[in-house]
Amino acid sequence: MLVDIQVLRRDFPTLAQIVNGHPLVYLDNAATTQKPQPVLDALNHYYRDTNANVHRASHALSGQATRAFELAREKVARFIHAPSATEVIWTRGTTEAINLVAFGVGRHFLHAGDEILISTSEHHANIVPWQQVAAATGAILKVIPLNASAGLDLTAAGRLINERTRLLAIGHVSNALGQVNPVAELIAMARAVGAITLVDGAQAVGHFPVDVQALGCDFYAFSGHKMFAPTGIGVLYGKSEWLEKMPPWQSGGEMIKNVTFEHTTFAEPPFKFEAGTPNIAGAIALGAAVDYLQGLDRIALLKHEQALLAQLLDGLAAMDDIRVIGRPQAGAVSFVMNEVHPQDLATLLDMQGIAVRTGHHCAMPLMQALGLKNGTVRASFSFYNTHDDVAALLAGIDKARELL
Ligand code: ALA
Repeated sequence: MLVDIQVLRRDFPTLAQIVNGHPLVYLDNAATTQKPQPVLDALNHYYRDTNANVHRASHALSGQATRAFELAREKVARFIHAPSATEVIWTRGTTEAINLVAFGVGRHFLHAGDEILISTSEHHANIVPWQQVAAATGAILKVIPLNASAGLDLTAAGRLINERTRLLAIGHVSNALGQVNPVAELIAMARAVGAITLVDGAQAVGHFPVDVQALGCDFYAFSGHKMFAPTGIGVLYGKSEWLEKMPPWQSGGEMIKNVTFEHTTFAEPPFKFEAGTPNIAGAIALGAAVDYLQGLDRIALLKHEQALLAQLLDGLAAMDDIRVIGRPQAGAVSFVMNEVHPQDLATLLDMQGIAVRTGHHCAMPLMQALGLKNGTVRASFSFYNTHDDVAALLAGIDKARELL
């Protein structure tokens, strides 16, 4: 292996601690990832040494802050292979990014009878905004069903995509089940009927390289905190042709060109969509997270994550009372134990220092479709997890079984 995970782990101070009397085994990375020292340093450096507002003043500190802030935008553009940094809008996270599109495209370009296509496995953040658009415009929400292995039924998707389909909004990786959706195929099918396409990449960017141009989507949304950056910062990539057409959604300072009491003209994208003082420190720290990731062998890290996944799936397959849901491929594994409430199992794991998430994972319709009333236990990886972490989880489940 070209990367030494034990050495990388030293970059993440949070990982080296005792929780409930045991070394922390952090397997809740789909909820949020831990932060490496360079990201913590970037936050600290901004607030300690260069704290000033951006794009507003003529003094030295403001210039430094503005340069760092815009450099971070360029780093993010390169990270997702966006053609231009002007197509990268800072948001609070994936949810806000999707809401921005729901407002700017959904409410302004969709009409009664237009169809919005999502899938059964979407996170609530990629369901509820579209329901709101449908309620406001008379558009109709359509849902791609699951296939037999809890993935997306592409044949059904082919039937659902038609000349009325105006917008496809689809998750890249299911946050609840860790399944990688066939987004490239779905985008191609949607584009063939002239539909607008949005990908929720929250669970993808922290695991594998993403190329928005290769995907061909109009919009790609993701959060910083799921890729080693702070909470409260995220990104909406949008094709410039759409960003030009979309109206601003929040208004105030920073997003204007000229204001009189009679009339306001708006700034060019991306600033048109960034009213108010942005999360400057968060954006700079997201740039640091991009640098950190780009400095690693991401293919080797992905292979390591795949090896962890295989180890966990093998271990769970050997347990008669455990059922893995779907076919996990990236990041997360969801499972249930016969008769045992997921929360009870998670509490017994937590007592052993093992952090997992339980419940519906903000994907209630998916859990309903799968008949999982109490949801699942979800263990989710990052590259800094180890084979010992997986072994600890498997042993932790055995121990919990004894206690139950
Ligand atoms: N969406 C995040 C998760 O899946 C919070 O846990």
